[in-house]
Amino acid sequence: MSDETTSVRRVDPKTPDDEAIDVASDVIGRGGLVAFPTETVYGLGADALNSEAVKRIFDAKGRPATNPLIVHVASIDRARGLAADWPDAAQRLARAFWPGPLTMVVRRSPQVPDEVCAGLDTVALRMPAHPVARALIETSGCPLAAPSANRYTELSPTTAEHVRRGLGRRVDLILDGGPTSVGLESTLVSVVQTPITLLRPGMIDRRQLSAVVPTEAFEPRVVEEKATRQSPGLSERHYSPDTSLRAVEATEFASLVDGPEKTQRVVVGIGDGDGSQTDHQLPAEPDAYARQLYALLHELDRRSVDEIVVEMPPSTPQWEAIRDRLRRAAS
Ligand code: TXA
Ligand code: MG
Repeated sequence: MSDETTSVRRVDPKTPDDEAIDVASDVIGRGGLVAFPTETVYGLGADALNSEAVKRIFDAKGRPATNPLIVHVASIDRARGLAADWPDAAQRLARAFWPGPLTMVVRRSPQVPDEVCAGLDTVALRMPAHPVARALIETSGCPLAAPSANRYTELSPTTAEHVRRGLGRRVDLILDGGPTSVGLESTLVSVVQTPITLLRPGMIDRRQLSAVVPTEAFEPRVVEEKATRQSPGLSERHYSPDTSLRAVEATEFASLVDGPEKTQRVVVGIGDGDGSQTDHQLPAEPDAYARQLYALLHELDRRSVDEIVVEMPPSTPQWEAIRDRLRRAAS
């Protein structure tokens, strides 16, 4: 497949120009696919109320139809309109964290097509903060179904170039708003029951959620079981680079780095060391680390090394989402 002619348009990430947004909205209006930046990762968007357009998302990603999509809206009112039921917890979380990197699973209204929700009676909703995402939703005049703009099981894109390399001409238009600021996929919670359940950790962490509404402790095994029913994407090999990746706890990492291993490997440490033992250092601060992680993995994936070895960050709430993605990348 040649991606020579993939259509990419630059947009100012803070004040996107109307012309680019108009062109993209026309593509959405015709049932096409537009990749656009959100603050987390790039999304592959289509009109969420158009079943045919939604099916094209699954084709472009090579994603099984059993794995539901997130619907992006530009206001809390619009989100409520897509929900059959809007619990108090949803309202409180929306007030606290929207627009922003939080996705909430609620019971769905009948106007949401089955394809979006993979037949579940719930829908995942998010109001993104990125000005380009918001302008596109507002100008299109429809909610946008958008998974991360990558092929199924591959790494999420944090730049337009990642999207172009991964999807090429499978996408009708890419809006290039530069690198994303959060860098990891949104925090995903189910608010269908109380306490709410954390289905996918993100940079809005469990302590921040718990300060607003009671949140069920994240139990990987419990979530794993539920995930196969509620959220298939959570239980599979996911978010993975092509190169084999090993995520190693800090205690073991030091000896491993010194070890006499012969394989062609790239060692990624965390920022406070002197850096002499590692090939790459990522920042010791979680927000900065998250922003850079996928770009580094995309870059390393393009080199022919046998293995990427990554030092696991500490087991604290602020690092939970990063540890989760490293574990998945390593599985
Ligand atoms: O940051 C993000 O969330 C990005 C940007 C583009 O918004 N989107 C994203 O979408 O990461 P995706 O499709 O790659 O991941 C969405 C996850 C999947 O694991 C899916 O299974 C889960 O959300 N999901 C969607 N609808 C659901 C539902 N009704 N119940 C439970 N899980 C759901
Ligand atoms: Mg994804």
